[in-house]
Amino acid sequence: MDIKKNNAGDRFRLKKPSGGMGVDNAPEFSEWVEEIRNQNTAYTLETGKTKKFKIEIFGCQMNERDSETIAGMLTDMGFEEVSKDKPADVIVFVTCCVRENAEERIYGHIGALSGECEENGSFIIACGCMMQQSHVVEKIRKSYHNVKIVFGTHNIHTLPQLLYRYITGKKRVFEVWEKEDKVVEELPIKRTDKHKAWVSIILGCNNFCSYCIVPHVRGRERSRDINDVLAEIKVLAEDGCKEITLLGQNVNSYGNDLGEKDLFARLLYAIEDIEGIERVRFMTSHPKDLSDSLIEAMKTCKKVCNHLHLPFQSGSSRILEKMNRRYTKETYLELVSRIKAAIPEIALTTDIIVGFPGETVEDFEDTLDVVKKVGFDAAYMFIYSPRKGTPAAKLEQDIPSGVISARFKKLVDLQTEIATDLAKKFEGKSVEVLVDGPSKNNPEMLSGRTRSNRLVNFKAENVNKGDTVYVDIIRAGAFWLEGRGGKKLG
Ligand code: SAH
Ligand code: SF4
Ligand code: F3S
Repeated sequence: MDIKKNNAGDRFRLKKPSGGMGVDNAPEFSEWVEEIRNQNTAYTLETGKTKKFKIEIFGCQMNERDSETIAGMLTDMGFEEVSKDKPADVIVFVTCCVRENAEERIYGHIGALSGECEENGSFIIACGCMMQQSHVVEKIRKSYHNVKIVFGTHNIHTLPQLLYRYITGKKRVFEVWEKEDKVVEELPIKRTDKHKAWVSIILGCNNFCSYCIVPHVRGRERSRDINDVLAEIKVLAEDGCKEITLLGQNVNSYGNDLGEKDLFARLLYAIEDIEGIERVRFMTSHPKDLSDSLIEAMKTCKKVCNHLHLPFQSGSSRILEKMNRRYTKETYLELVSRIKAAIPEIALTTDIIVGFPGETVEDFEDTLDVVKKVGFDAAYMFIYSPRKGTPAAKLEQDIPSGVISARFKKLVDLQTEIATDLAKKFEGKSVEVLVDGPSKNNPEMLSGRTRSNRLVNFKAENVNKGDTVYVDIIRAGAFWLEGRGGKKLG
């Protein structure tokens, strides 16, 4: 049986290892960690080598954040992380199933590694959203023999135990919990960056947009205790972190499951007092839940960046209803007006789906109309992909694929034109940039983000990753700004 029944219960916490591995009511976790660490130490003493791991991440920020926990656990167990181009003993796939092409890519990548696994005696661990679906687990079991361990989004913390079972039993270990369980606090974490960090505040989703698989694979909403969140941010700040991004499928429902009202706005006010944090971002906000008190908090809190990701999905009220989004074109536009009135310098970004079943020319025109009226700095645009188990997957797709691709192209072209126009206002200006390091495309340049989340590539001397600098913008395009100079702040 692959999908294991489990009962949702209260949260529990793992005490941080302090000298010896101190634990309270979850003794098994640290014991498994220690068992494997001992084995890895013995291996190193015997061979002079360390067991290596690497992680392939697909999907959204939730997976990025989960991967940091997985890396933290593996590091605590004595494995050493290597970059993706290097061979590793353990290859972890953190998967996504939001659209079909994401799944296809993952199957392709796993399949392509079979030679490498055989040659090096390495194996694959598959986890993440895709593994919450039993048909996927079956397919992996049958056709992808290099995958030795499978777990789901609800039992990440069982990795040490699963690994121990696999290593000692030499049999494949597949364990996926059917339901969300407790919020597990204080798992080990190996952060990707020092100067910026993801902080998840709410797990799961209750919205059941009709096209979306996420609530089916990530479970119901569970908010973390505000004190745990604030404690995590304080530690990050003490370690030199400047920017945090608060994560949730819908951060606006933070606290609802705890019977708290407007907890998200309260959290933003509380972060204002944490010394060292310069920038606060969050994603994602569901338009139906964005309250006036949150707008007020965004306006008041100096650390909260002037950027809001506000997916609208479709401009047609008729399609929005079929999508179960619970707002209309008019209420969305009205919300945008209120936000812009309160925070004139706000940069808006969005997600849009093209080709939802039944989308007519008029519906699509409504989508273009919203794009024109709002003026988004950036938009993530997707072609609708039916997901097994969602209500929309039962709807007949009546739009020819050629029509959908033509609509998609028209939308992308319009959005690129708008983003380019909006970018032009930066030319000749000096903007605050938090530096992420060398630019991915041109290592001679540095790269970073403005407070409004625009990507900036620039040349400068004596500037390092994690510095906050002022950059003069000389050229602006839809997707990035080019600048020079980097006057350090403070
Ligand atoms: N919780 C976030 C985002 C979740 S998934 C939110 O509500 O905004 C990210 C984006 O993927 C969604 O906003 C949507 O635009 C897109 N998406 C989700 N399911 C999809 C599907 N079946 N086909 C195409 N795009 C989809
Ligand atoms: Fe999916 Fe809707 Fe939940 Fe976002 S709010 S994760 S689109 S169901
Ligand atoms: Fe994908 Fe799961 Fe995120 S399905 S988009 S990785 S929540």
